[in-house]
Amino acid sequence: MKKKFKKSYGFSFGSALMLTFFTTIMLIILMYFFYDTIHVDFVVEFAILIFLSSFVIIQYRVERLIFNRIGRIFEAVGSSNSSEIKKDQGPSDMESLSREVQKFADEKRQEVDVLNEREKYRREFLGNISHELKTPLFTVQGYILTLLDGAIKDKEVRTKYLERAGKGVERLIYITKDLELIAGLESEELKLNYSHFDMVNLIQNVFDLLEMKAKKRNVKLHFDKSYDFPVWVNADQERIEQVLINILVNAIKYGKQDGWAIVSIQTEGNKVKVIFKDNGEGIKPESLPRVFERFYRVDQSRSREQGGSGLGLSIVKHIIEAHHETVTAQSEFGKGSTFTISLQKSN
Ligand SMILES: Nc1ncnc2c1ncn2[C@@H]1O[C@H](COP(=O)(O)OP(=O)(O)O)[C@@H](O)[C@H]1O
Ligand SMILES: [Mg+2]
Repeated sequence: MKKKFKKSYGFSFGSALMLTFFTTIMLIILMYFFYDTIHVDFVVEFAILIFLSSFVIIQYRVERLIFNRIGRIFEAVGSSNSSEIKKDQGPSDMESLSREVQKFADEKRQEVDVLNEREKYRREFLGNISHELKTPLFTVQGYILTLLDGAIKDKEVRTKYLERAGKGVERLIYITKDLELIAGLESEELKLNYSHFDMVNLIQNVFDLLEMKAKKRNVKLHFDKSYDFPVWVNADQERIEQVLINILVNAIKYGKQDGWAIVSIQTEGNKVKVIFKDNGEGIKPESLPRVFERFYRVDQSRSREQGGSGLGLSIVKHIIEAHHETVTAQSEFGKGSTFTISLQKSN
């Protein structure tokens, strides 16, 4: 408080003191010359009056000057707050003005931080995309060139190489699909298509959809059906279906051969929690916080071999956060993983 007082009134105090000093000296000299005597009482009263009046005038004028100048600058940089300040002029003007300027500066700094962060992300994203696309492209190119170099004449090699090139193209397609999805999510972040739907039914549908995939690795998909009745939620059904698919596909891909994945539902207050548990390879604690990052894979080669773009869980996080809900991952390395999403219950 004391410091603040010193800061805002220090200038006027010093100037008033100087003014008082010089006018008093002049008064004394004039008195001495014209009247040959000095009335000390009068001089003291004069000094006090001069000091007080000049202090008030200087303080007022300086505040007005700074206020007007900064107000104009404020207007010029297009702050929506400038009109607000103009309206309430009074002794607290300077204080509110400096508060507003500080707020304005903070906002601008935050804006710049966000822009920098976005720019960094964009650069990284571009780098990652080209890296991701390069690998399958070179693979496909390699097989095609070998075929053109003569391998095409050998019937057995030809089929094998064409199949491998086909796999590479497939990989390019699902990376592109995931990229498209992410781009879509980012541009229409707020355009969620909320509806009232039955979670139990949606899980059943996704199970049917993934049945073949699970069979290939002999992973049993299990629905913990303590909920034999509908569980209504309020969310974007299509997007949530994508979430279920991404998490369950991972459970199948990174699950044990002949393993299992169990989905269960819990309701807590106005929330519905969907829990996905598998007995797969699990994720090490140091990797766990990173699995939702774009292009992050614990085991690069295994993820590629399983046909992963590294974008699945970041898409999950994106969708769930757009719903203002949460997704969490728990895992015990070598034993299995559990992913949990929360959604808004609907009655
Ligand atoms: N259920 C799971 N069990 C073990 N590891 C998993 C599981 N789900 C995800 N992961 C790990 O997290 C990484 C990121 O997952 P995701 O974003 O879906 O990318 P990917 O395209 O590799 O599947 C995976 O590469 C994998 O290493
Ligand atoms: Mg995945």
